[in-house]
Amino acid sequence: MRCDQTVAWQDLKALAKAFSGFDLRDAFASDAKRAVHFSQEAPGVFADLSKNHWDARIEAQLLVLAEQAGVLSQRDRMFQGEAINTTENRAVMHWLLRHPLQGVASNALPASVKASLQEVHHTLNGMLSFAEKIRLDGQITDVVNIGIGGSDLGPQMAVMALQSCALKGKRFHFVSNVDGHELDAVLNGLKADNTLFLVASKTFTTLETMTNATSAKRWFEAQGATDVSRHFVALTTNVEAAGQFGIQTCFGFWDWVGGRYSVWSAIGLPLAIAIGAENFRSFLAGAHTMDQHFLHANAAQNLPIRLGLLDVWYRNFLHYTSRCIAPYHSALKRFAPYLQQLEMESNGKQVDQAGQALPYGTSPVLWGEPGTNGQHAFFQMLHQGTDVVPLEFVAVKNATHALPNHQALLLSNALAQAQALMLGKADAGGHKNFSGNRPSTFILLNDLTPFNLGALIALQEHRVFVSGAVWGINSFDQWGVELGKVLAKDIHARMASGDVAELDASTAQLLQRMRTS
Ligand code: F6P
Repeated sequence: MRCDQTVAWQDLKALAKAFSGFDLRDAFASDAKRAVHFSQEAPGVFADLSKNHWDARIEAQLLVLAEQAGVLSQRDRMFQGEAINTTENRAVMHWLLRHPLQGVASNALPASVKASLQEVHHTLNGMLSFAEKIRLDGQITDVVNIGIGGSDLGPQMAVMALQSCALKGKRFHFVSNVDGHELDAVLNGLKADNTLFLVASKTFTTLETMTNATSAKRWFEAQGATDVSRHFVALTTNVEAAGQFGIQTCFGFWDWVGGRYSVWSAIGLPLAIAIGAENFRSFLAGAHTMDQHFLHANAAQNLPIRLGLLDVWYRNFLHYTSRCIAPYHSALKRFAPYLQQLEMESNGKQVDQAGQALPYGTSPVLWGEPGTNGQHAFFQMLHQGTDVVPLEFVAVKNATHALPNHQALLLSNALAQAQALMLGKADAGGHKNFSGNRPSTFILLNDLTPFNLGALIALQEHRVFVSGAVWGINSFDQWGVELGKVLAKDIHARMASGDVAELDASTAQLLQRMRTS
């Protein structure tokens, strides 16, 4: 049943009405167990959800909403390999990419999924032995990943996040934008003989990636290098197109892996080269452990479910339209951009599974920057602005550097910001008044290891699944990106010809300005 037609939705609306006087300070004062009640241990991740604008009654009602909207049955359908991506008639099985070949969990899989699992491991083994070969290859000093969207954001974020266990002596570059400045700047620092290009594209048709790959190949040959087959590798589901491009080494994956869910597949090759096969397997194991938590933990103690329902509460009942991500670890610099695609490409939808317009909001706007940098930029607005923006802290207890005092200062700042948002400070003068009662979630990892990072990412994937399932949307297609691609082709032709016939006056004027010298 559509979520807004459930009884729980109406009950939550009533609770939201009565909620305007809620104050976090009072909530903590009147409930000594609040921090414990709203905390959740999950594999690799601890989360404190207590500084959020909700109470036990609201959470209980959200759990009823999840039940009435069929979230758990949709989750089970995903893990059974059913074609829940209905507009593309595809299964959604990124979770299978981190599934062990043997064991109890494998025995329970449907036969067709088991067959896919065999293929997954066959490809994984091939990819990881290739990664090990490259790690030992002293001639390759630079690895350039050419890809965009899910073929860039996941591997780039993870390579950066796990730099402390990355192989020394190899540099990793990520080229995504069709803006030639990006590729040019990377190529300027490279020697063809020492470079491995990974052309990462699920479809092998994406304009940016194909343009960059073609220019990279042209550059490679212009340097006098000829061995394209050694220096270019494709990561794609479209092996035929990769072959036509002249690439012989190809690691494949499947149409049931969405681009933004593909870091676990061959798209993860740059990460596998950076951290090695054993660590990559540990990354997969962390995600698998989170999958099992999502599948088996009781809904009331299930972290992805709790987070996803909180997201729904904020979006639809308290009408908070954005969420800020503040990773207190500089290696998580690309975490917010990664989450932007995950959340907004998945849940930025305005129709239900049947294509009917929805009368309620879906994906929030996601944004953020690592702390403490954000504190000196936009935190002003979080503390004193007119909008309430829930903030999600992601902190890591242990540092991998030995510089004294930094880690304690970093963590103290994260705690102090969460505290300041909630407690506020009264000042009669106005300008120095902090209203407080501003919500935040605090996610804590002990260490930024491959296992914990895998778990953290899978957690985010599943919380996006939960809110999308409540909203009744297809979180696994992305038709909204298509129109711009089509129009760009038309305008590209007009750039060359100068033909502005039938263009709107604004576009025509800008195009003409761009063409005249
Ligand atoms: O344009 C959106 C998109 O299709 C994303 O979903 C995807 O991650 C990205 O483009 C890249 O696609 P591909 O891996 O096929 O090049």
